Amino acid sequence: MPQTPSPNLRQDGRHFLFLVGSTREPGHLGNTEWLARQAAAALPEGTRQTWQPLARLQLPTFVDRRHTSGSYAPPTGDMAILLEATLAATDIVFVAPVYWYGLPAPLKTYIDHWSAWMRTPGVAFKEAMAQKTLRLVTTSGDRAKAQPMIDSVRLCAQFLGMADGGVLWGKGGPPNAVLADAEATAHAATFLEATGA
Ligand SMILES: Cc1cc2nc3c(=O)[nH]c(=O)nc-3n(C[C@H](O)[C@H](O)[C@H](O)COP(=O)(O)O)c2cc1C
Repeated sequence: MPQTPSPNLRQDGRHFLFLVGSTREPGHLGNTEWLARQAAAALPEGTRQTWQPLARLQLPTFVDRRHTSGSYAPPTGDMAILLEATLAATDIVFVAPVYWYGLPAPLKTYIDHWSAWMRTPGVAFKEAMAQKTLRLVTTSGDRAKAQPMIDSVRLCAQFLGMADGGVLWGKGGPPNAVLADAEATAHAATFLEATGA
């Protein structure tokens, strides 16, 4: 007789890529990653997760060749790993503290390379991205200061036709500050549940 899978063992084919943008020193877990890990812990058992700490990777500055050579060779090194991970994911989660009202530099560098991947022969980047959901986990001193970054991420998703999976915001500060934000912790428990709208 067929067995009904237990709901917490559901394997629904989703593959989450968590791109961590914090520049905290190695061994110091930031508020934003802590919050994202709370959200990830609530995923059904067996859901695939890949975590990339962008500040630990070698990410070259993007070079704008759109109006000169017009195309880009396939990336190498850590950028190649990120492109492969990006294409393999169904759900991309930016794990990004607010830095000066915007994205931290490692994550911004990664996004700038989308402009190269859109012009890399053999990579159907735009078509692939349009099948994915983009979410943002962020912390900052207060919610209002996160709004420009939240708007920027939503517009990036729209540009590539990605589903917008929304934002999980928590009140950050020194490490562990977000643990006192009960609303954020409660939101984390369901944040990754739904597929993007
Ligand atoms: C370079 C830098 C810029 C920051 N800019 C802002 C800001 O514009 N607005 C704000 O509310 N907090 C700002 N913060 C505070 C961080 O957003 C906050 O401490 C956050 O919780 C850090 O996340 P993490 O613990 O995951 O690294 C900034 C922190 C740094 C290091």
